[in-house]
Amino acid sequence: MQEFPELYEQAKTVLKNNDKGKWTIPASGLYPHQWLWDSCFIAIGQRHYDVRRAQKELTSLLRGQWTNGMLPNMILTRGVMNRHSPEFWRSNTSPFSPDSVPTSGITQPPMLAQAIYSVGQKLSLPERRSWYKKMYPSLLRYHQWMYDDRDPRHEGLVVQLHPWETGLDNTPPWMHAIHQNAVPFWIRAVDTLGLDSVITVLRKDRKYALPGERLSTIDGLLLYSLQRKLRNHRYDTAKILKHSRLAIQDVTFNAILIRANTILVDIAKTLGKKVPDELLDKFTLTHQAFEQLWDGYSKQYYSRSYLSKKLIRVNSIGSLMALYAGSISPERAELLVQSLNDKKLFDAPFPVPSVPLNSSYFKHHTYWQGPSWINTNWLLVDGLQRYGYKKEAQAIKAKSLELVDAHGSYEYFSPIDGSPAGASNFSWTAALIIDFLQQK
Ligand code: GLC
Repeated sequence: MQEFPELYEQAKTVLKNNDKGKWTIPASGLYPHQWLWDSCFIAIGQRHYDVRRAQKELTSLLRGQWTNGMLPNMILTRGVMNRHSPEFWRSNTSPFSPDSVPTSGITQPPMLAQAIYSVGQKLSLPERRSWYKKMYPSLLRYHQWMYDDRDPRHEGLVVQLHPWETGLDNTPPWMHAIHQNAVPFWIRAVDTLGLDSVITVLRKDRKYALPGERLSTIDGLLLYSLQRKLRNHRYDTAKILKHSRLAIQDVTFNAILIRANTILVDIAKTLGKKVPDELLDKFTLTHQAFEQLWDGYSKQYYSRSYLSKKLIRVNSIGSLMALYAGSISPERAELLVQSLNDKKLFDAPFPVPSVPLNSSYFKHHTYWQGPSWINTNWLLVDGLQRYGYKKEAQAIKAKSLELVDAHGSYEYFSPIDGSPAGASNFSWTAALIIDFLQQK
């Protein structure tokens, strides 16, 4: 593989500059809070040069844990002028939110088990045990919450209430479902009257990225209005599910959950503990239920509507995340690898696009509707390696390194020409590039 002599130090500098002491912001300006899965990816990079700092990154996530076990997708920084303020979220309307730490009211993909485990790999066995001992109770409560709160019909697949919970904000399956089910009349009016162009001029994120690189204004309004509904129901899942027309068993979230469950069991083993049988049965059920997301005709995995139980047959990178889950059969893994190598689907010059190239949604610079992201590349590389697809994993890794070496730690990149987009000096890009550089 090509050498990148300066990349490691450059990536470290990005993380140092975004370091707030006990936790790291994703990027300055656009992202002034602590995000759940960002911190997990960040710790996976930090562990290579400062394992204590990586531990701090993860323990600082626990300060936001709700008393019901939920880990919020954001721990908010007070006083910053940003749309995600404590007043915007008002999570203190839920009886479960922490008293002294302002947080959001929803979660994000459960990457914590992986991050705890990866950090543990850098510690001696006695230190690893005490690290796991410290983190295990909170981790277990989090997994327990996902099943208790988010799988009320005991189907094995946990449900998400907002696309922000998937980490892939405007991913096509969710935008498709929202446009079909949940467009308030006033947003329809803004759209019909063409007022969105006026609002676009006022958008704050324009300061940090070109409008075409973010969500469209209408999609942005939809996500905010959906958040208000959750807030109005005080983030009470049972109430939300009763009243909302939008709830999705997301393929990416559930794939990551499967891997996290496997790792949780491993962590327990290292501690000489046993995950409660009742929970283990649920893990097995998830493993089996995940196959209900498979569509034999298109040979892809899809997210599913919680209400109608119908697959949302709009393709995205979510399908490939099943490789990271590690639970699918080698035959299905092979079919996914074929779509990864298919020039009409995911085989782009700078892989892996967040949406297949032949999708009507595909735009090479538009956030989660086309660009290649380093975190999904990392998840795929990890999954491909475990299924024995060394060549494919190596190719994605090499292209990721090439991109960041040429342009810097951008938030995302065009899969077509590799041009960078979104925030510069983005933490998880830097952290996962460090991890790639450290892999043999
Ligand atoms: C965006 C991304 C999300 C990420 C957050 C902070 O909302 O879609 O995945 O966690 O930014 O980087």
